Amino acid sequence: MRTLNFLLFFGLFMSGCMSIDSKQQTNETKEIAIAGIDTINHQIIIDLPVLAAQGKLPPEDTIHFKRDPHFNNLEKDFIGFPLTDLLKTAFERFHIDTAQAIVLFECSDGYTPTAPLALMYGKNKPYVVSADAAAATGGKWVPGFEKFAPYYLVWGDYLPADHCYVYPYSLLKIKVLSIQKAFKNAYPSDNPDMVRGFSLFSQNCMKCHAINAVGGGMGPELNYPKNITEYWSDANIIAFAKNPPAFRINSKMPSVTDLNDEAFAEIVKYLKYISKHKVIE
Ligand code: HEC
Repeated sequence: MRTLNFLLFFGLFMSGCMSIDSKQQTNETKEIAIAGIDTINHQIIIDLPVLAAQGKLPPEDTIHFKRDPHFNNLEKDFIGFPLTDLLKTAFERFHIDTAQAIVLFECSDGYTPTAPLALMYGKNKPYVVSADAAAATGGKWVPGFEKFAPYYLVWGDYLPADHCYVYPYSLLKIKVLSIQKAFKNAYPSDNPDMVRGFSLFSQNCMKCHAINAVGGGMGPELNYPKNITEYWSDANIIAFAKNPPAFRINSKMPSVTDLNDEAFAEIVKYLKYISKHKVIE
């Protein structure tokens, strides 16, 4: 049943993104002595500043991007390398079940978006960049964009409507781990009916909000020790998510505009389910 749930979830997770064609690999946990790439229980942790200090990042180049969502959709040249070059080094030494793997991006402000590993190998290539080619000599970023340091993830083709393609800046770490591991205590492993709500929550909310301490730290934890549904009404949770400034001036949460009422109802259903599963490690 557990396996079925993961497959169901993975299907949902992938459906909006791309089709997957990945091969099963062996899943052995190995201790590998590469600084910056730790392998503990089937996960790869890539600490970008540590690898940079050791001169172990792939060689950088100037890369041209047709549009960038953080720079008014203008053309940009950044200095960086393809993310797959970095993953290649990790995978040469460590095998992971690629069909079940998730890439998690950890930023210094607590933003923690995820994307399926397979997305990194699609037509739209991700790049890890460390500088804006337009920055003055001696600086890496143009004024106002200093917070983009130390790293920024940019995709070769900008697809405005597709939220699978995340653009995290202040990027510190990249982790590759299994879905089970990535979402452990937040995953509805004993109830397939909650998988859709979880999947919607994980794609739309979890980059900022944690459940049982799993997820982003930019917004408040929504389950532990009190679940949000225990002190906010269903209607207010949904109304707030759709339009935070209607509740609070200067709210740091962006309005969620691309989910319909049915999707929000599924999210609330999942939140109520998880309120009965409070566990943190
Ligand atoms: C980009 C980050 C981000 C995303 C994505 C996000 N939130 Fe938030 N959310 C926040 C932050 C930050 C707050 C803190 C309150 C504020 O600044 O108004 C918050 C507050 C909330 C609150 C009010 C709880 C409180 O005590 O402040 C609710 C409810 C909420 N979010 C629900 C959601 C739901 C549901 C989703 C997904 C559909 C979601 N959020 C997606 C960042 C985010």
